[in-house]
Amino acid sequence: MSIVPVFSPASPQAKVIVDLFYIVLGVCAVILTIVTGLITWSLLRFRGRADSPEPRQTFGSVPVEVAWTLIPLLVVICLFVLTARAMNQSDPLPAQLRADLVITGHQWWWEARYPNSGVVAANEIHIPAGARWLVRLEAADVIHDFWAPRLGRKMDMIPGHPNYIWLEAQRPGTYSGACAEYCGAQHSWMRFSVIAQPPGAFEQWQQEQLRPLPTPASGPGAQGEKLFSTLTCANCHSVGQAAARPSIAPDLTHLAGRQTLAGGVLENTPANLVRWLRSPQAIKPGSLMPNLQLTQQQAAELAAYLEPQKQ
Ligand code: CUA
Repeated sequence: MSIVPVFSPASPQAKVIVDLFYIVLGVCAVILTIVTGLITWSLLRFRGRADSPEPRQTFGSVPVEVAWTLIPLLVVICLFVLTARAMNQSDPLPAQLRADLVITGHQWWWEARYPNSGVVAANEIHIPAGARWLVRLEAADVIHDFWAPRLGRKMDMIPGHPNYIWLEAQRPGTYSGACAEYCGAQHSWMRFSVIAQPPGAFEQWQQEQLRPLPTPASGPGAQGEKLFSTLTCANCHSVGQAAARPSIAPDLTHLAGRQTLAGGVLENTPANLVRWLRSPQAIKPGSLMPNLQLTQQQAAELAAYLEPQKQ
């Protein structure tokens, strides 16, 4: 894998873009070499000397002017045809618009809804490896831009105007992505991962996502559940049955299964979850997560409720 992920495509859609880049780079390199070579040669060959006579004065030349109009025109036409071909290969056809996955950009996190199974996830987008999925991209507030460099092109997410891309990873793996359109204070902390799994493992993940969060009978987890519903957490976050609810903030049913918190800012550990709950504005200033002035104990109880597997 390359250090620069765009140069290490993991899908056919990303590969046509990288191939086009190399072709354009090659064409431009040839032009640069010819132009700078000719200029250098002219500077040396025709430089003024003490005894140089007045050079021949030339005014216009039809063959030269035709040549320097036609050659760039042909180069541009070739690049246009290659670009149109690459766009055609990396973009969905307008006739097939039944999305396998709907991804919505929010300030500053990602929501992934799976219409076929009813699963709702956030920030970590699971897909089956080897399958080409049609993804509808939406925005909940401002313009965002979905970009997983190793998997394909960037695509704007525009409120009220869904766009479509193909999402495909040929091999299982975790492919990082980010928002590529400035969308406010925490634009840079709008990260996501596309996690491509073998189809069986993906199916298993979906089944796990559909399982409800266990209701703790006693202990800190039970206290946490009470806090979750009595404080204002439940106004924005859902736990279970997320598909039926409007999404203002990430669904938290399977928070424990995610690798990061707050759109990639923190590693997902109970200690970091407590930190986040106690001082969200210190960790991600400007985010919509309010500071509920929780005590250390309250935050720990909420973490015990939301991440029972990690306690
Ligand atoms: Cu969302 Cu930048």
